[in-house]
Amino acid sequence: MSQQPVRIAPSILSADFSRLGEEVAAIDKAGADYIHIDVMDGHFVPNLTFGPPVIKSIRNVSNKIFDVHLMIAPVDPLIEDFVKAGANIITAHVEAGPHLHRTLQTIKSHGIKAGVSLNPATPIESIRQVIDMLDLILIMTVNPGFGGQSFIPLLDKIRDARAMIDASGRTIDLEIDGGINPQTAKDCINAGADLLVAGTAVFKDGPEHYARNIQALRG
Ligand code: DX5
Ligand code: ZN
Repeated sequence: MSQQPVRIAPSILSADFSRLGEEVAAIDKAGADYIHIDVMDGHFVPNLTFGPPVIKSIRNVSNKIFDVHLMIAPVDPLIEDFVKAGANIITAHVEAGPHLHRTLQTIKSHGIKAGVSLNPATPIESIRQVIDMLDLILIMTVNPGFGGQSFIPLLDKIRDARAMIDASGRTIDLEIDGGINPQTAKDCINAGADLLVAGTAVFKDGPEHYARNIQALRG
């Protein structure tokens, strides 16, 4: 399907973890469309964050879509735990293992939405054969592992993903993650993105500015 209205998914990686529940409530109230949840395992990426118990603990704070970005390998043994914790969309990396099709089947067998993420060096062609299983494509515009990095301008890749989605006729979110600020957001939207993740740009300047920060990314 063609490009949908722009939606914003604040990444709680940039939240104040000592007040995580309040931070999730604040971005919900400030107009977040999805809550982006970055799970890192210290193995697939060189950083560690949190897992299902923490996600479960914030599930009752917001009714927004929990968009769970798994930067872990292997993926499949933990899918059920993330579903039980309250994920609405689970996104796995193409690079996380040899059996992407099986991973997507497993996610979908739980009746939730399935996404696939591509590191900067991974070509869009790597997902052509699974496009009919996808609800979301996440293009990384930084190397995954940390917030606050600079945007890698992969605009041609975003355009190629847009064309692949349009040709599929399916409703698939085209999500961009890494280094999103008001300027790079515009570039991504012009290239065909319709879902933007932002950590640093949403959480800067404290809760009273979250609504303004989110609005500034809508293009
Ligand atoms: C990076 C994460 C991103 C990150 C984005 O591995 O997947 O979601 O939190 O942070 P910013 O918006 O600060 O680049
Ligand atoms: Zn992410």
